Amino acid sequence: MQYIATNEPLNEVKSQATIVLIVDKNLDHTWVKHKEILENLNFKGTNEEGVLLSESLHVYVGCDSLEVEDLRLAAAKAYSLLKPTKIKSAKVGVYANVCSYLSIRAFIEGFELASYNYQEYKKEKTQTHFETLHVSVQEFSDKQIELSTVQKALKDGKVIAEAANLSKQVINTPPQDFTPIEFEKKAHELADELENVTCKSYDENFLKQEKMESFLAVNRASVHPPRLVHLVYKPKEAKKRIIYVGKGLTYDSGGLSLKPSTSMVTMKADKSGGAAVLGIIQAVAKLELPFEIHGIIGATENMIGGNAYKPDDVLISRNGVSIEVKNTDAEGRLVLCDCLDYAQDFEPDYLIDMATLTGACVVALGEFTSGILGNSEELQHKFYNSSKRSGELTTPLYSNPYLEKTIKSEIADVCNISNTRYGGAITAGIFLSKFIRKEYKDKWLHLDIAGPAFVERPWGYNQFGASGAGVRMNITFLEDLAREDA
Ligand code: BES
Ligand code: ZN
Ligand code: ZN
Repeated sequence: MQYIATNEPLNEVKSQATIVLIVDKNLDHTWVKHKEILENLNFKGTNEEGVLLSESLHVYVGCDSLEVEDLRLAAAKAYSLLKPTKIKSAKVGVYANVCSYLSIRAFIEGFELASYNYQEYKKEKTQTHFETLHVSVQEFSDKQIELSTVQKALKDGKVIAEAANLSKQVINTPPQDFTPIEFEKKAHELADELENVTCKSYDENFLKQEKMESFLAVNRASVHPPRLVHLVYKPKEAKKRIIYVGKGLTYDSGGLSLKPSTSMVTMKADKSGGAAVLGIIQAVAKLELPFEIHGIIGATENMIGGNAYKPDDVLISRNGVSIEVKNTDAEGRLVLCDCLDYAQDFEPDYLIDMATLTGACVVALGEFTSGILGNSEELQHKFYNSSKRSGELTTPLYSNPYLEKTIKSEIADVCNISNTRYGGAITAGIFLSKFIRKEYKDKWLHLDIAGPAFVERPWGYNQFGASGAGVRMNITFLEDLAREDA
């Protein structure tokens, strides 16, 4: 999609269709040319309400407010009305008196996110004709907005949504086609395309050498070899080092603690944490954020077979902690613990892991929200506040000493599941915390994205399939960090 900013007044911009946002149910704005028709259609102008008037090719979309998330929703609605038509171009005016860089960027994000459509495996693909959106900064008020600000908003909005869309594409790809080796290829491709990004990847021999027995155990029954992918974005004069670790389970059958067949469907999305890492690296490189950012992905399948790891096995992780396996379906934490230990060798200022780690998180928070876990409530809050602006929903989850005790093992240092069926998102976080060294305790966050990672019933601007969870919330977090450091 192409986004073009212009100083020309809206009515002078040449395009086929015109998008008008009805904000605060106000039908009296000069851009509203069809007040009577809209009233006859009983168009109120609330969120997710929209109409395409076929004669004038005006698209009216409702917008409860000019808050960023309402703008994303309005843009997505506008796109969905244009999508099935043969219209190639549209224009939209910026309410210059009240709009900022962030609001224009949010509108573009919504438009671009809505344009994502996964149809790789369809014989007959739906043709979309829409190509260009003109954004007019008509200066009809005393407050003006610089054209260059609008241009930056268009560019950045597109970059952020494209990063989420890249992550969606990876996640939506079926498990037979997106194996750990594909993760490796995709990461190297990104490094080749992006400035200041390099990639190293490692196979099972490296994992053995590094004593990542926990990660290796999960891979054992898979015909696809594992990969540890390590991307680095390193701009000149980086101010901090932030390390992301992503769970990249290209398939989670549950292993010998096999999932019931209905729960197994969608487990191609168990690579969402790793896919978010790819999206984040693409976005930070294109946005040229002033940090050194690492993206580490633990990629493997969790399968069954004669050589599968078993409930009752005891695994020795990279940092020497012994883990009693009681359930092979709690495999994500077994991959992450070794990757997190590896990550700490690179001395992060912040260490953030992302994973579709627990069904319990979905039960606790609902399918729309990710959990923010960690040892520092302050850092959890900080992340929460930043993530709010991104349009992704998050909630901090806190631990307590009673839950801490539930992952004790009689025979090993720790058990991979808790002895209670309650609080599973938190006990998974407690398990991971056992692998965080003292000096990084308060610098670490664990994001459980199991709920929003895969959308079975479309909501907001998220279509069926992957949502790209984790990408946008981390971009806003990093942007806020950059502002603090400026
Ligand atoms: N990948 C799943 C978690 C999951 C569930 C993600 C639903 C997305 C949607 C994870 O590996 C898993 O199976 N966790 C178990 C842990 C349990 C055995 C302690 C779970 O949540 O049931
Ligand atoms: Zn599992
Ligand atoms: Zn899993």
